[in-house]
Amino acid sequence: MGALASPRVLVAAELRDLLPPDPLPGYEVCWIAAEEPTPQGDFVGFVTLLRRKIGEAELDGLPELKVLAQCAVGYDNLDIGAAIRRGVVVTHTPGVLTEATADLTWALILAVARRLKEGQEMIASGRWTAWAPTQLLGMELQGATLGIVGAGRIGQAVGRRGVAFGMRLLYADPEAKGEFENRTGAVRKDLDELLAESDVVTLHVPSLPGTQGLLDAARLERMKPGALLINTARGDVVDEKALIAALQEGRLGGVGLDVYRDEPQVPPELVAHPRAVCLPHIGSATHATRRRMAELALANARAVLEGRAPPTPVEGTWPPRLRPGALPGGGGGEKGRARGDEDR
Ligand code: DGY
Repeated sequence: MGALASPRVLVAAELRDLLPPDPLPGYEVCWIAAEEPTPQGDFVGFVTLLRRKIGEAELDGLPELKVLAQCAVGYDNLDIGAAIRRGVVVTHTPGVLTEATADLTWALILAVARRLKEGQEMIASGRWTAWAPTQLLGMELQGATLGIVGAGRIGQAVGRRGVAFGMRLLYADPEAKGEFENRTGAVRKDLDELLAESDVVTLHVPSLPGTQGLLDAARLERMKPGALLINTARGDVVDEKALIAALQEGRLGGVGLDVYRDEPQVPPELVAHPRAVCLPHIGSATHATRRRMAELALANARAVLEGRAPPTPVEGTWPPRLRPGALPGGGGGEKGRARGDEDR
């Protein structure tokens, strides 16, 4: 009689270089590239990237699936309700990418405030002829106000850096963050007040039904004339058309973006605009952070497959709801809000 086949786990092929050669001993790892469609079959786990959408139809084709282990803090590509209904645990990677993403947010703040894109273009085009007292004047950050929308882990890490730049901090968040306030002097405001008072607004909320389109035309209108907007969270938190209009009309002084509504499509108006610095979703892209994210995603998958609590489940998905025919003892609500939602 032949040996029993190992259970099969799908793992995003793009993670291969970040993981050990045999990442899940005891399981057959099936590497799947992002451009390949989600297969059907008896796979018990799936380590996913945010490029892959998984909803009802995909889950129907994976009837044995126990865990969807997302290698990212955000998981708006996954249908959490559909996973809960099928007893599939969803996990993500909060905590390990906080500092890298806060650093990149600051790279954008500095680039936009000091007009780096225009400066570089001036040199590349040969238009720079001499030092001049009024050339490429930008925003002085010392004494300016930084408005943080969403004071979770990343928002707070951005704020801590803001103190070192001598900025006054405001934040908008459903919850008061006492320790953050004590440490940085940050003051909690409602969103509209924050927008009206901030010189730099930086977004750190997850994409949820309640945050999609949060910065719509009316809210962009409330921002101070000449203020800067930075987004390293999710593209759909901002109305991109209204953002382009505000930039083109000179109401915004500049924008720094790492995320877009329809990635990898970046509106050409933004690419072309001298005051828009656009990056290709690299907030967490450091060697150390990407390795930690891959390891955490794998540790989550392994834990669920071994029947242990995963380190960072999406809230509401662990413990899993009973599957038809399974023994009693599970649970799990429909809510699907993540513990790490506050991470963005
Ligand atoms: C995340 O983790 O959600 C980022 O957008 C990718 O690092």
